[in-house]
Amino acid sequence: MIRIAPSILSADFARLGEEVQAVERAGADLLHVDVMDGHFVPNLTIGPPVVAALKRVTSLELDVHLMIEEPWRLLPAFAKAGAASMTVHVEACPDVADTLRKIRKTGARAALSLNPETPIESVKPYLALIDMLLVMSVHPGFGGQEFEAEAIPKLETLVRWRRELGLRFAIEIDGGIKSFNAAEVAAAGAEILVAGSAIFGSKDYAATIAALRSAGDRGEQ
Ligand code: DX5
Ligand code: ZN
Repeated sequence: MIRIAPSILSADFARLGEEVQAVERAGADLLHVDVMDGHFVPNLTIGPPVVAALKRVTSLELDVHLMIEEPWRLLPAFAKAGAASMTVHVEACPDVADTLRKIRKTGARAALSLNPETPIESVKPYLALIDMLLVMSVHPGFGGQEFEAEAIPKLETLVRWRRELGLRFAIEIDGGIKSFNAAEVAAAGAEILVAGSAIFGSKDYAATIAALRSAGDRGEQ
């Protein structure tokens, strides 16, 4: 079963609580929360107080994607705010294994991500330490960008490595996911599809989530 994670980056921030409740009612499986610091990516979004506020209005799991430098500094604050999982970027961590251990120490699930230009080999040493691997299919920082197809072989490689190593981490994809490419990414191994502009830019959130899910389920391995 493919899971759909709406990214609130494309929600109406003036009505964030209502938007989150709307995607929850519309069938979202989890909520993707993009945290940006203006350094790791050229954009700024939200911090732990907003995550804590979201936690109070939804029962969806909060999938917190940390596009920030020195993410280890904020792990306890995001965990306390209610993050179910925290994703750090391999490019942002001088000691990736230590940062992943620090995530797990908070009680949250640990996830690792990589940018489109980063080779998939860079995450291989850490696969036994993660609960989820997030493949970026756009350059992080903004919603509404076009899907980059280099993500497809990365997904396939991860599926192969996971099998060869006997591991169980989930595979998530983020960036440019629409109903027309959901089957393709699911066929390549993505199990959790993040979608921001596709969902929040649509009129009928339930119909869009259903379309993403059925395309994903059709492609699923
Ligand atoms: C990009 C973010 C994504 C973004 C995806 O930096 O990590 O989660 O919201 O937006 P879409 O689905 O519009 O590409
Ligand atoms: Zn994201």
